[in-house]
Amino acid sequence: MDKLVALLGWVDERFPLSKMWREHLSEYYAPKNFNFWYYFGSLAILVFVLQIVTGIVLTMYYKPDGDMAFFSVEYIMRDVNWGWLIRYMHSTGASAFFLVIYLHMFRGLMYGSYKKPRELLWILGVLIYLAMMAEAFFGYLLPWGQMSFWGAQVIVNLFAAVPFGIGEPLSEWIRGDFVISDATLNRFFAFHVIAVPFVLAALIVVHILALHEVGSNNPDGIEIKKNKGPDGIPLDGIPFHPYYTVKDIVGVVVFFIFFFAVVFFAPEMGGYFIEPPNFDQADPLKTPAHIAPVWYFTPFYAMLRAVPPMLGSQFPGVMVMGAAIVVLFFLPWIDRSPVKSIRYRGNSFKIALGVFVVSFVILGWLGTQPSTPGMTILAQIFTILYFAYFVALWFIPKFEKTKPVPERLTS
Ligand code: HEM
Repeated sequence: MDKLVALLGWVDERFPLSKMWREHLSEYYAPKNFNFWYYFGSLAILVFVLQIVTGIVLTMYYKPDGDMAFFSVEYIMRDVNWGWLIRYMHSTGASAFFLVIYLHMFRGLMYGSYKKPRELLWILGVLIYLAMMAEAFFGYLLPWGQMSFWGAQVIVNLFAAVPFGIGEPLSEWIRGDFVISDATLNRFFAFHVIAVPFVLAALIVVHILALHEVGSNNPDGIEIKKNKGPDGIPLDGIPFHPYYTVKDIVGVVVFFIFFFAVVFFAPEMGGYFIEPPNFDQADPLKTPAHIAPVWYFTPFYAMLRAVPPMLGSQFPGVMVMGAAIVVLFFLPWIDRSPVKSIRYRGNSFKIALGVFVVSFVILGWLGTQPSTPGMTILAQIFTILYFAYFVALWFIPKFEKTKPVPERLTS
C-alpha cells in the first residue's frame, strides 16, 4: 500500500492524476436530484466504448474489398469463434447508441439544459450527433449487402442534387467512382474505423469538459452553484464519486439486461436493426423493391420524401432534411424563456414538446413505409409540426404562464 501511495506521489509530481480525479469525480459536485433521465450520458459513453472494442475485433476479420466484404461478414458469423456475438453486439450497439442519444437529447429539451450557460455544451452535443450519423452511414456500407449498396447509392445521389454544377462532381468525389464501388467501400472503411471515431472521441472529451466547467443542470432547472455553503461547496450538490458512479452502475446493469436480450433473442429486431435485403450480397444490377434506411435515420428520410422535387431536383428535400438538424444548433437562442425545466413551464411548452416528440416518432415510422400519396401527405403534416416546435418556442415565452422556480432543489 505504501508503495502504491509513493507511486501515486511520483506520478502526481509529473502528471495531474489526483488533481483530475478530484476535479472530475470525487470533488465534482453534481445536483442531488438526478433522476432516470440522467442515466443516458454515462450509457452513451458505455455504448461508445462497446462499439470501439467490438469494432476493433471485427476489423481483425473483416475485408474491405468489393469481392470479399460480404463473405468476410458471413465468415465472422459462422466460422470465427464468438464472431456472431461480436458482430451482433456491434450491429445492436449502433441502434442502442441512437436510442440512448435520442433519450439523452429529449432530457435536454425537457429540462432546458441547452440554455445559458450550457449553450456550447449543447452545440457540442449536436456536433456529436452529426458525427454519429456519419459514422453509422459509413459503417452501413461495410457488410456490402443489397441495402448497404442501395442505401449508400440513394444518399450519395442526394449530394448530386446540389445546384450550380457542384452536385455531380461532388457525388463522384465522395464515391471515388461513378457508382458505389470497391473504391467507395475502401474510403468508407477508412472513415468508419479511423477518421470519424477519432472525431467522436475528441468531441466526447470536449463535451464532458464543457459540462464540468458549467456544472450539470437538473430536473428542477436550478443552478446549484448559486447556493454555496461557507466551504464553497454547492449546498444542493453531492460528490459525483461515489454517489453517481454507483447510480450509473445500476444503469449499466439494467442496460445490459435489455441489450443482451436483444443481442441473443432478436438481433435483427424484425428487420429494424438489420434489414432483410442485407442478407443478399450487393448487386448493382438489381434494385431492391423498397429502399429505406435504418430506423434512426427514417424521420429525416420521411422529411426528404415529403418535399416535392423542384424542376426534377431533390434539392428542396435535401435542404429541409438538413434544416431539421441545423435548427438544433440555434435552439439555445430560439427558446428565450428564463425558466429551464418543464416542471415550472406552462402548458403551452408541454404541449409543444409533446407534439414535437410524437411528430418525430411518426415521421420515423413513415420513413420505414413505402411512399404512397396518403403517406406523403402525412409526412408533410408531421414535417411542418416538427419545424412548428421551433417557431412555437420563439413565441411561447411571450404569453406563457410559468410557475415560480424555487431557490433550492425540491427533491
Ligand atoms: C456520444 C455521445 C454523447 C455522450 C457520450 C455524452 C455524454 C454526456 C454525459 C456523460 C453527460 C453528463 C451526464 C448526463 O447529464 O446524463 C452529458 C450531459 C449533457 N449532454 Fe451529452 N453526450 C453525448 C451526446 C449528446 C448530444 C447528441 C446532445 C445534444 C444534442 C448532448 C447534450 C447534453 C447536454 C445538454 C448535457 C447537460 C444535461 C444536464 O445537465 O441536464 N449530449 N452528456
